[in-house]
Amino acid sequence: MNILLTGGAGFIGSNFINYFTAKHEKINVVNLDLLTYAGNLENLKDSESRKNYTFVKGSILDRKLIEELFEKFKFDHVINFAAESHVDRSILSSEPFYMTNVIGTTTLLDVAKKFGVERFLQVSTDEVYGSLGATGKFSETTPISPNSPYSASKAAADMAVMAFYHTHGFPAVITRCSNNYGPYQFPEKLIPLMIINALNGKKLPVYGDGMNVRDWIYVLDHAKAIELVLFKGKLGEIYNVGADSEKPNIEIVKLILSNLDKTEDLIEYVKDRPGHDRRYAIDSSKIEKELGWKPEISFDEGMKATINWYLENKTWWERILNKEYLTYYEEQYGKSLEG
Ligand code: NAD
Ligand code: DAU
Repeated sequence: MNILLTGGAGFIGSNFINYFTAKHEKINVVNLDLLTYAGNLENLKDSESRKNYTFVKGSILDRKLIEELFEKFKFDHVINFAAESHVDRSILSSEPFYMTNVIGTTTLLDVAKKFGVERFLQVSTDEVYGSLGATGKFSETTPISPNSPYSASKAAADMAVMAFYHTHGFPAVITRCSNNYGPYQFPEKLIPLMIINALNGKKLPVYGDGMNVRDWIYVLDHAKAIELVLFKGKLGEIYNVGADSEKPNIEIVKLILSNLDKTEDLIEYVKDRPGHDRRYAIDSSKIEKELGWKPEISFDEGMKATINWYLENKTWWERILNKEYLTYYEEQYGKSLEG
């Protein structure tokens, strides 16, 4: 079995590959990743020497390359992780988000339909549902109502995937997960940014009043949900994924400071994110009842493991801060990133 996996040098894709290629030695995974600022091959050191793992540098916008890969590997499945993923960046400039997240996804859909696949799994997000008030949760039937350019681009991609399912009988399935945390998360996102700033004695910038709520899940639990949906999910269905761990941002920031023995005077309340969604909370009962998935790692365990990981892997994040991680591709493949 051959899988085309896109965006596998990012946070969730690399955690998925490290888990999946170790477990399924007979399944070949080809990781197509453009290595944008968010792509880091150092996340994949555990997988790079495995026989069932291949890396290809390239874009999901490059139809010719994707066709060549389909001809060569005759993929059975596609898992599309590739995306521009950071909300703040989408506010500064939305074009790369619409290009990769929408046109990139439709390019992949076109080629996968042309060559035929058993299954196309689109990795989506709970942000497509918009923002909640104080009560309630997102279910799969909640109307999509995205608020940021990032979530609008992900919602558009989801609609393109479902349109292919309805129009062409294309074998697609979608997962919509809540906020992930864990090893290898790029230090622009809340949890790694706060851990690293605290370790460096820098201020911890909390947007607005710090009371925006996110529903957190350890990345390995998300990886296992994707594995299950890939093998057992029903075509044409959407599966929400979350671990019932709603937390206001300020609580997380304070937890990190106390775990690192740092004082709360490092906290700095800053101007709010424009259009900042107030609360996300996800109802995962469908994937739990229909596929038997459930999260295995509690928030307390996951946060302890994550904080320890950043303490023990200082070189990993220092090489990002000083941009040395960008040279790893050249060292491994003897080509420059542009070449
Ligand atoms: P990330 O930003 O860490 O990684 C994205 C990866 O995609 C990078 O390796 C990047 O190089 C690659 N990429 C970007 N543009 C590309 C292109 N045109 N062609 C090929 N590769 C390209 O993102 P992440 O946090 O790992 O998220 C992965 C997926 O999961 C995304 O689709 C995101 O929307 C979704 N998601 C993320 C979360 C979360 O909490 N991080 C939650 C739910 C869903
Ligand atoms: O819900 C899933 C989504 O979670 C994914 O689809 C996105 O790809 C992922 O980036 C994430 O989006 P968020 O915007 O929720 O994540 P972020 O880490 O950027 O922010 C989490 C919360 O913390 C949010 O309320 C904004 C706040 N925040 C964030 C940063 C970076 C701060 O208060 N200060 C900060 O410096």
